[in-house]
Amino acid sequence: MRFFARGVVKDEITAMSKLRLRGFEIYKSYLDPARQRELIEALRPILKAAPLFSPKVPSGGQMSVRMTSAGAYGWYSDAEGYRYEKQHPRGQDWPAIPDPILSIWGDLTGLERLPDCCLVNYYGEGARMGLHQDKDEADFSYPVVSISLGDDGLLRLGGTGRGGKTDSVWLSSGDVVVMGGEARLAYHGVDRIRFKSSRLLPKGGRLNLTLRVVT
Ligand code: SIN
Ligand code: MN
Repeated sequence: MRFFARGVVKDEITAMSKLRLRGFEIYKSYLDPARQRELIEALRPILKAAPLFSPKVPSGGQMSVRMTSAGAYGWYSDAEGYRYEKQHPRGQDWPAIPDPILSIWGDLTGLERLPDCCLVNYYGEGARMGLHQDKDEADFSYPVVSISLGDDGLLRLGGTGRGGKTDSVWLSSGDVVVMGGEARLAYHGVDRIRFKSSRLLPKGGRLNLTLRVVT
């Protein structure tokens, strides 16, 4: 029998579990709190070198999510469309993807090929991301790996066609999702976050990292 000392915070004893929904492989509590903090530390210099920005969408609006990237390519959008760019909009190369992030890719996919983009999405209070497919990459046989840090976010999952039924799942800090196979081109989006539900980020908000093979 195991006993847990009184006062141990719930987060510290949450066990990992894996669920599969519409082909999305969802690893709940994959990263323990110490590894989550390690990733935040690894992200600090990236956010400094390549500050978050709010991309314009081709239809003319602006995304509520703020973003930046690490790796050889960064995801970008403006009036001309969605694409990957080799440089931050301020004109400098994107910083390298830190090793603690790359090792999550290796552990979960077992692939030798490394991702060449780590898109960093920051959801502040009220930010959301509409249903979309990730289809700006050259080869859809590679999965996309998504890492959630900070506040809870409600991920909506659909199929590969527009419209139709969807399912929703709350993603918490430390959860990792692998979108491969039938889920690789599935519609997905984030309806809302529970602002300040986590204490990982002192100012609140949700960070989502997606690792992608672009070329
Ligand atoms: C994305 O689709 O780029 C982000 C998904 C998420 O924030 O969980
Ligand atoms: Mn996406």
